[in-house]
Amino acid sequence: MATASTERIVGLNEYFTASEARVDRWRTLNRIAKARAVTGLYRAGGAAHEPKELLAELEPLEELYGYPGPRLMAQVRDRLQAGDWTGFARLVQRISTALLSNGYRDDVEAWRSDEEDEARGLDILPPSIGRGQARRPYFEVLYVSPADRGMWPEIRETFRWLRRPEDEFAYEPVVVGSFEDAALAVVFNYNLQAVVISDGFPFPSHRTVAILREILTRQVQISENARTDDLGTLLARMVRRWRPELDVYLTTDRDAAELAGSVESASIRRIFYGVEEPMEIHLAILEGVKERYETPYFDNLKRYAQRPIGTFHALPIARGKSIFKSNWIRDMGEFYGANLFLAESSATTGGLDSLLEPTGNIKVAQDKAARALGGDRSFFVTNGTSTSNKIVHQALLEPGDIVLIDRDCHKSHHYGLVLAGAQPLYIDAFPLTQYSMYGSLAIKPIKQALLRLKAEGKLDRAKLVVLTNCTFDGHVANVKRTMLECLAIKPDLIFLWDEAWFGFARFSPFLRRRTAMGAAAAIRELMHDPEYRKRYQDLERRVGTLDPGDPRLLDTELLPDPDKVRVRVYETDSVHKSMSSLRQGSIIVVADQDFHTVEASFKEAFFTHTSTSPNLQIIASLDVARRQMELEGYELVGRAIELAIEARGQINTHPLISKYFRIATPAEMIPEEYRKSGFTDWGAPGWTMTGTMAALDDDEFYLDPTRLTLLCGAAGYDGTQFKALLASEYDIQINKTSRNSVLVQININNTRSDLAHLIKALADMSRTIETRLAEGGEPARAAFRARVKALVEDVPDLPDFQRFHDAFRDDPKSATQEGHMREAYYKAYDAANCEHLKLNSQEIDERLSKGPELVSAKFVIPYPPGFPIMVPGQVVTKEIIAFMRKLDVKEIHGYNAAKGLELLKADALRQPARS
Ligand SMILES: Cc1ncc(COP(=O)(O)O)c(C=O)c1O
Repeated sequence: MATASTERIVGLNEYFTASEARVDRWRTLNRIAKARAVTGLYRAGGAAHEPKELLAELEPLEELYGYPGPRLMAQVRDRLQAGDWTGFARLVQRISTALLSNGYRDDVEAWRSDEEDEARGLDILPPSIGRGQARRPYFEVLYVSPADRGMWPEIRETFRWLRRPEDEFAYEPVVVGSFEDAALAVVFNYNLQAVVISDGFPFPSHRTVAILREILTRQVQISENARTDDLGTLLARMVRRWRPELDVYLTTDRDAAELAGSVESASIRRIFYGVEEPMEIHLAILEGVKERYETPYFDNLKRYAQRPIGTFHALPIARGKSIFKSNWIRDMGEFYGANLFLAESSATTGGLDSLLEPTGNIKVAQDKAARALGGDRSFFVTNGTSTSNKIVHQALLEPGDIVLIDRDCHKSHHYGLVLAGAQPLYIDAFPLTQYSMYGSLAIKPIKQALLRLKAEGKLDRAKLVVLTNCTFDGHVANVKRTMLECLAIKPDLIFLWDEAWFGFARFSPFLRRRTAMGAAAAIRELMHDPEYRKRYQDLERRVGTLDPGDPRLLDTELLPDPDKVRVRVYETDSVHKSMSSLRQGSIIVVADQDFHTVEASFKEAFFTHTSTSPNLQIIASLDVARRQMELEGYELVGRAIELAIEARGQINTHPLISKYFRIATPAEMIPEEYRKSGFTDWGAPGWTMTGTMAALDDDEFYLDPTRLTLLCGAAGYDGTQFKALLASEYDIQINKTSRNSVLVQININNTRSDLAHLIKALADMSRTIETRLAEGGEPARAAFRARVKALVEDVPDLPDFQRFHDAFRDDPKSATQEGHMREAYYKAYDAANCEHLKLNSQEIDERLSKGPELVSAKFVIPYPPGFPIMVPGQVVTKEIIAFMRKLDVKEIHGYNAAKGLELLKADALRQPARS
C-alpha cells in the first residue's frame, strides 16, 4: 500500500511498529539502490551516504535474525563499499522482497546472493531447504554463546550440518554473545522457537540501543544492576516470561544434575553438560517444536478420514455418499470438498474420543490448550462462549448464592444466572454517554458492594464475580489488581473473566498480564513473595481487619492475606473470535486451586449444556488454533497490534478523513481517573515506551489497540446507517455499532490491504460529503449541522440498573441490590401475570409518577448497545423509559413495539413464586 506512512521511515523507538520499521528500511534501501543502479548517481561524491546510513541502522538489528544472515549481509556491505550498484541493487531487492513476503521460509532463491552462488551449489544454503522435499515449516534457534565472535560462524555451521533429510522442520541458527542481545532477539525475532543458552556470556551488548534497554529494564525487570553470576538461568526466566511458549535449553559446565533439580531451572526444558553431543541438542529442539506442532485430535481426524470405514450409525452425510451420489445436492459436496464429509462421524470410538468424557486425544488436546493459554486445565466447547459461560455459572453456583456482575455483560451470563438460580448483584460500568456505550466495571464499586455485603453479614453468600475483559469496545481491566482487592475482602472469591474477545492477548507480552490467566499466575507467584508479605503486613497495620464502615478502604489499594488467599479463576474465550477456529469454537480455561471441590458439579454442568453430537470439525479447529498460536501467535498478534496502531494514526491524522471520521483515542475511551499514568494515545506527542509500560502495569483500564471505535457522528451517520453503508457500497463488514460509532476490529487475519481498503472508503465518503455540502448551499449545510448535533451532542443518558422490585428481594431495606431474578423470570411464563403498556402511552407516565411501579417481565436488550436495559423483576425507572423513547434502533430483543413493554402485574407481585 503506497500510503504516506509506509514511505515514512519509522523510528525504532516507535517500538510497536519495529518489525515494520525493519522492513521499511529494506524497502527504502531497495528503492534507492535501484535508482542509483539506473542513474549511476553513485559517481557523484557523497551520494552513497544515505544507503550507508540505512545499512548502519539495520546491521545491529539484523544480527538478531537468521535471514538474511551474516553471509548475505557481508555481501551487501562489500558491494556497497565497492560501489557495485547493480550487484547491490539486485541483492537488496532479493532480501527486501523475501522479508516482505516471508518468502525466505520456503524459497531457496532468497538465500542466494546471485549467480555465483548458484554456480557454487547448494552447500552455502540452509541445507534443509530446497532439496525437493515436501514443505517443512521453518524456524530459527537462538544460540547464546560466551565464545569469541570469531567462533560464531563455526557454531552456526555445526548446527547446520546436523540437519537430516528426515527432520520434520528446517531451522536456521542465530548466534548472539550477551544477555542484552539475547533478550532483544527474543523480543524482535518472531521466527525463534527455541533458545540454547551456553553459560558464561556477559551482560551488556556491544551496541547500545537505548529504547530496547528501556524495555528490558521496565518489562523484564532486568537491568545491568541485576547482573548475577547466574545469567544463564536469569535469561531463561526472561525468555519464558516474555514468550512462555519458547523452549529454553541450557548447556553448562556446572554440575548439570544438581542444576536440573534446582528451582532456578524451572524455566528450562533440558540441561546439557557442556561437552555433550550437539546432535542431542538438535534432536531436543526438534522434539520441543514437534510437541507444539502436534495436534492430536486434528491429526487423528485426518487419519480417520483416510480409512475405508463403513458407517452404520446415524449421520448420513458421514463419508459423503448421500451427497456425492445425489441427483439434487451434489453441489454441496463440490462446494465443501470431500474431506469435510470423510471427517464426519458420530462415533466416539476409533480414536475419535468423546468430548463429554475425554480420555484420549481430546484430553491431550485440551491439556495442550491449557498449557498454551496458561491455565491448569481447559475444556473445549463447541457452541460458543455463550455456552461456556452458562457451564461455568451452573458449575459454580447454587440457588441463593450472590454473584457480583457487570450489568453490561453478555446475555449468556444473565441467562446463566436464571438457570443456576443465583442472585445477581448488578453493578454498573462507567458510562461513556457521548458514544452511547458503557465502559467497564471499575474496582471501587465492586469493593463497595463487597464491603456492604460484609457489613450486612452476607459475604459468605458472595460466591462469584463476573467481569468482561476486554469489553466489546476494548476496555481492558487491571485484572490482577481487581482480583487482589476483592480477595482482600473475601479471600476465596471465584472470578469468571469473560474474555470472549481477548483470547489472542495471551500471545502478546504486553497484554498477557491483563488476561485472567496471566494475572492468576502473577498472583500465585506474588503470594509466595516475601516482599509482598511485608507490603501486606504494612497495610494490615494501617487499615486493620477491614471494617466495612472504614471510609478509607474504598480509596486504599487493598491487599489480600497471602496465608488465606485461594486463587480460583475461570476464563472463557471465543477462540473463533480472535484465533483460527471455526465459528462457535470456544474454550474454558481454569486456574482454580480448589477445582477438586467443584469437579463433579463442573462435569454435571458440562453434561447439561454440551450436545451429545458435538461438531468434530470445531473440535479439530480448536486443536489447530492452539498449534498456530503456540508457534506463530507472537508474530501474528504483534502484527495485528502494529496494524491497528498504524490505522489509528493514519485515520486521525488524515487531513480530509479526520474532518468527518475519527478513531476514539484511549484518552477519549477511558476517563482520566482510570489512567493514572497519563497515557493518552500511542504515538501522542511526548509518548514514550516507558509511559505505555506504566499504563499497562498500573492503570485501572487500558484500551485494546485492536478494537477501533470509529466515530461517524461528525459525518452525519448513526452507527446502524454507517454500518449498512460500509457493507452495501464498500463491501466492508463490521460488527457492533453505537448511536454515533461503529467498531472496527483488527485481528490476526487482517493485512495492510484491508487497511488500505478501509481508508480508501473513508476518503471516498469524506469527498462525497464535501461535495454535497459545497453544492447544496446553506440549507444542506444547516441540515448537516443539525444532524451532527443530534448524533454527537443530543445523546440520551444511559440508564443505571437501580433495583429489583421489593417482591424479589429478601430484605427490601438492604443496602445491597441482589434479587431473585429467576422468580421474576418464571412468573412471566404465566401470561395472566403479565400486562403490556405502549412505550409512548400516557399510562406509562402516570404509572411512573403515581405507581404502581413498573416491573419488567423480560430481559429487554436493544442492539445497539446490546446490554439489558431491563431484566426480569427490575423496577423500570423514568430514566429507562426516557432512554428507550430516544432509542432509534430497530432491533430490541424482548420488546415488541406493537404490543408494548411487557410488565409484571401488581397482583402477580404479591403472589408467591413457583420457582
Ligand atoms: C463479551 C461476550 N461474551 C460472550 C459472547 C458470546 O460468545 P459466542 O459468540 O462465542 O457464543 C459474546 C458475543 O458477542 C460477547 O461479546
